[in-house]
Amino acid sequence: MAIYTLPELPYDYAALEPVINPQIIELHHDKHHAAYVKGANDTLEQLEEARDKEAWGTINGLEKNLAFHLSGHILHSIYWNNMASPKGEGGGGEPLAADGVGELADAITESFGSFAKFKSQLTKASATTQGSGWGVLAYEPISGRLIVEQVYDHQGNVGQGSIPVLVFDAWEHAFYLQYKNQKVDFIEAMWQVVNWQDVNKRYQAAKASIPLISF
Ligand SMILES: [Fe+2]
Repeated sequence: MAIYTLPELPYDYAALEPVINPQIIELHHDKHHAAYVKGANDTLEQLEEARDKEAWGTINGLEKNLAFHLSGHILHSIYWNNMASPKGEGGGGEPLAADGVGELADAITESFGSFAKFKSQLTKASATTQGSGWGVLAYEPISGRLIVEQVYDHQGNVGQGSIPVLVFDAWEHAFYLQYKNQKVDFIEAMWQVVNWQDVNKRYQAAKASIPLISF
């Protein structure tokens, strides 16, 4: 009963050069992301089996695995679409009203003081992850503001209800073949491939989901 599937990349393996080389993209998508998809599906099957047998001895491990693999699948699915070729249209720079993403630009300024301050916070949060993790720009529906989260693994240190709109993968598998131990260089280079059209689309969708949490 597989319900999660590996999405196709929205570009070819070489599209993000020179920021991310094709070997990294191929391994990252075809092996790492695929493993999270399989892990999520396998865990759901194991939970079904546990329910059928009322065998709850492994419940803690199964719930942890579900959160880990499902969050890994979701974050990677966003990650691929958050990026665009630095040589083509839409990759890099900063969100501008002239490009039709003025609302996102205004929300960033309102939430962080300026684009430069936001960029500094997300860069630092991503580059200083301990072990494996992510830097995430998320929409927080109670306050209606954008926040930066430093996520442990794929699922820890997250404010409940917040919706990711821009994610930087800071796991070693995302950069080590090209950047070695220079994680901060990789994160700084990531700004050249941010697809602001995609981030804006996610921001608009997140804002529209506010009624989900109203009290
Ligand atoms: Fe990853």
